[in-house]
Amino acid sequence: MKNFEKNAEVQQRARKVLPLGVNSNFRYWGEGITPYVKKAKGSHLWDVGGNEYIDYRMAFGPIILGHAFDQVDEKVIEEVKNGVLFAMTGELELDVAEMIVDMCPAVEMVRMACSGTEATMHAVRVARAFTGRELILKFEGNYHGFQDYTLWSTYAPVEAYGNRRNPIPVPASSGIPRVLGEKIITLPFNDFEGFERMMRSYGDQIAAVITEPCQGNCAAILPEPGFLELIRQKTTEYGALMILDEVKTGFRIGKGGAQEYYNLKPDLATYAKALGNGYPVAAFGGKKEVMSIIGHGVSQGGTYTNNKPGIAGAWATLKVMQKEPVFETINQRGTRLMNGLKEIFDENGIQAAMNGYPAMFTFSIGADKLTCQREWAHTDKELYLRWAEAAIDRGVMPDYDPREPWFMCYSHTDADIDKTLEVYAEVVKTVK
Ligand SMILES: Cc1ncc(COP(=O)(O)O)c(C=O)c1O
Repeated sequence: MKNFEKNAEVQQRARKVLPLGVNSNFRYWGEGITPYVKKAKGSHLWDVGGNEYIDYRMAFGPIILGHAFDQVDEKVIEEVKNGVLFAMTGELELDVAEMIVDMCPAVEMVRMACSGTEATMHAVRVARAFTGRELILKFEGNYHGFQDYTLWSTYAPVEAYGNRRNPIPVPASSGIPRVLGEKIITLPFNDFEGFERMMRSYGDQIAAVITEPCQGNCAAILPEPGFLELIRQKTTEYGALMILDEVKTGFRIGKGGAQEYYNLKPDLATYAKALGNGYPVAAFGGKKEVMSIIGHGVSQGGTYTNNKPGIAGAWATLKVMQKEPVFETINQRGTRLMNGLKEIFDENGIQAAMNGYPAMFTFSIGADKLTCQREWAHTDKELYLRWAEAAIDRGVMPDYDPREPWFMCYSHTDADIDKTLEVYAEVVKTVK
């Protein structure tokens, strides 16, 4: 059993200067149970009390190679010694842009940013400018960062969403101007019929349909075969753009992300997270015709958009992906873990839907298969949480939140998978 006293002590200190004692609401798990981190290496993480964990949170996805991955850190250290910010363009960022264009089939031109939130904010603006329209259609349970334009119907109790034939967009925070609700249409994910109906009614007023390829912020629910393709087809038919938010899937489920996986060509795509193995870097890009309007009446920029740690982090991460069997290894180990967990659930007579890809997956208790957040709402979140709590106590750390996928990295070993399966076999048997 872990000693959590030191974490609780640090939480008391943090509470005095940080709201909730954290710098992002998602890092707060509750009083006396919120972990505070000391260090991490590879697939392992140590909290301030010295407790060691196999980490499956991977900072919510960015850590794709492993924590403190030497090849990446050495490049960053080498580069930052020559200055970190210049308000001028350097060659390293051109290398990164060229690698992104080379690896992502739908990206012909790209602009760098610092976070996924920034990337989606810019993509939405470009789509509005390109089409001359203002409406944005998004799906319930998808999260596209903290900007006000799309922070609707992400985490609300699904009862607030209204009837699925005529959903009500619900802001995910106080402080979001109500008037922005007039610019957003929300729909359940994987609702083929509802989507076609909405496009028939509003398609010629819609600037963009933005979607995560799988619901990376709602239990990794996968798109039904043909759903992403339908979005592509209908956006083209009505002159709207398709924005694929690859902040979680990009450089994670494969070298070319979801667009390669599904052989899909969105007009715009957004990236962050795995692009830099944890360094602050993001990007958005897409068709040359669309991206070319930037600078011609369309404003985009940012003081830190080519910050050296981020750019050097991305440079080194992409080089490793190009040279080493990163995705093959992750897929093989992730598949083993997913299958092993499913076997444990089956042996114990637990009904659980396995969602997502080997590189980012989770399970939802009390369902065989999920297609949208409205269905996920009826799964057993309480039991998931109690298992997570017990696993964390035994040195295996998934996120506390059942919506958040388990993330694999290149540094997870077979021994990590063995230990994780051992822990879950015990936890599933003993924690009811
Ligand atoms: C799909 C998706 N888009 C955008 C974001 C926002 O990214 P960031 O936290 O870097 O602002 C996230 C973050 O989790 C995400 O999962």
